[in-house]
Amino acid sequence: MKNMTNLIIMGPPGAGKGTQSERIVQALNIPHISTGDMFREAIASGSSFGLEVARYINQGMLVPDDVTIEIVRERLSRPDCEHGYLLDGFPRTLPQACALENLLKEINRPIQCALNIAVDKNALIERISGRRVCPKCGASYHIVFKKPNKEDICDTCGSSLIQRKDDTPESLKVRLDAYENQTKPLIEFYEKNGVLVQIDGLQDIDKVFDDILNVLKGEKR
Ligand code: AP5
Ligand code: MG
Repeated sequence: MKNMTNLIIMGPPGAGKGTQSERIVQALNIPHISTGDMFREAIASGSSFGLEVARYINQGMLVPDDVTIEIVRERLSRPDCEHGYLLDGFPRTLPQACALENLLKEINRPIQCALNIAVDKNALIERISGRRVCPKCGASYHIVFKKPNKEDICDTCGSSLIQRKDDTPESLKVRLDAYENQTKPLIEFYEKNGVLVQIDGLQDIDKVFDDILNVLKGEKR
């Protein structure tokens, strides 16, 4: 069976969406569209758009729907999405999910699979508090589960690793509340659409990826 290539990856903050996305896009040769990464790039560039979204992100609040939908609309219209896409962290609200349905109708690439990475709250806190990221190339590590070769140094570009500004206990609380109230209902939305697949995100990184690949190859649903 042909691989599925029109994909969404969902799950609470720190579930492992970015970690798994990196591997999925490599395996399937499709673009990784992460709204969180796009916002962080805008912040790093110092643009006025970056300044605007930083006000929300650093506190853990969701960026308003109109702004977020617009950047995804622009990104999905680029030619590299002609053979598929992996959306990571979008949609995150019901209005975003409805807008996405319309956008995907326009480009005739309906979602084939919405992967939901299920992880409990204790594991999320452990994963987020131990995450370290490279401010230069964006690579992501964990002090226990995905150690860099040299402590606090990026394997890829040699920069010093940092913690994300929204990985503080205060911001994480706001992010978890936003997830519970605004994002979690999307699980039901995609279940009703018949594309939802639950993935046990409490397993180690390699095992989670194996399960995802089996689903995408149509071997397990
Ligand atoms: P975003 O960047 O999407 O953040 P998030 O959803 O909070 O998720 P994270 O990136 O924190 O976690 P992840 O699931 O990618 O986990 P990771 O793989 O890094 O969004 C950031 C902000 O942008 C939002 O709060 C909001 O303000 C704004 N935003 C973005 N999209 C938006 C939208 N659509 N609408 C409105 N606002 C939006 O893994 C975490 C750690 O765990 C890592 O250290 C990793 O090494 C480790 N790890 C991963 N998997 C495992 C495993 N299986 N076992 C052990 N450790 C693991
Ligand atoms: Mg992420």
